[in-house]
Amino acid sequence: MKFSKDFKNQIICGSAVDVMKEIPGGSVHLVITSPPYNLKNSTGNGMKDGRGGKWANAALQKGYSNHDDCMPHDEYVKWQRECLIEMMRIIPENGAIFYNHKWRVQGGLLQDRQDIVSGFPVRQVIIWRRKGGFNFNPGYFVPTYEVIYLIAKPKFKLSPKASGHGDVWEFTQEMNNEHPAAFPVDLIDRIVSSTSAEIILDPFMGSGTTALSAINFKRDYIGIDISPEYCEMARKRIKQHQAQVKLW
Ligand SMILES: C[S@@+](CC[C@H](N)C(=O)[O-])C[C@H]1O[C@@H](n2cnc3c(N)ncnc32)[C@H](O)[C@@H]1O
Repeated sequence: MKFSKDFKNQIICGSAVDVMKEIPGGSVHLVITSPPYNLKNSTGNGMKDGRGGKWANAALQKGYSNHDDCMPHDEYVKWQRECLIEMMRIIPENGAIFYNHKWRVQGGLLQDRQDIVSGFPVRQVIIWRRKGGFNFNPGYFVPTYEVIYLIAKPKFKLSPKASGHGDVWEFTQEMNNEHPAAFPVDLIDRIVSSTSAEIILDPFMGSGTTALSAINFKRDYIGIDISPEYCEMARKRIKQHQAQVKLW
């Protein structure tokens, strides 16, 4: 598939790395994404072996529709680094990547994702503090934060006044979405409105949240997801959103 006008404002069903390889260097101004976190490859609980255990009620207990979220750790890190290499190639000298991830404790050690992002130009770590949260285990405080790495090329600048948002952002998690791990639109609105990017890519588009935000600010989007089901979900959601926006 060659990059053409058809690529813009489309949801493409395929593997993130394969599809990104078809996108010419420097042609996408901003990447906003949340990859699968490899959550089911966790130390010693039912999330890994499917029994559920303390995670029995978690939305991601069964993984995603076309991805089980349970890769050997080294393989997962290698894959995510390949994804970041493609994202870096695609953005121009004033481009940036907002890469959402989660830190966790594994086997008593902090898994801070340094193995994924090391060597990439991480400029800042933003804390996304969720309002409230779910607790599946009485032995733990409710987990309420995730991180967003701002990985930026040298000429990337924020829009005027955006720096005033600070580096701890509070947004309620998405509640009304059939996708098990959707972004809240407000969070992505904050990112999109903080930049002047014209074309925005989400290589793990899921239910289409990044596209909705792009539409809110009259920017173009490109979405990729491996799951035909989520691609359809995203297309439907985008269509409904566009109809709503026209009414405003
Ligand atoms: C954390 S979710 C993204 C959710 C999205 N931010 C939203 O708001 O709906 C990760 C997504 O990555 C997709 N995925 C898993 N493996 C993939 C691959 N190799 N290439 C592209 N997408 C993949 C899953 O289907 C899932 O929808």
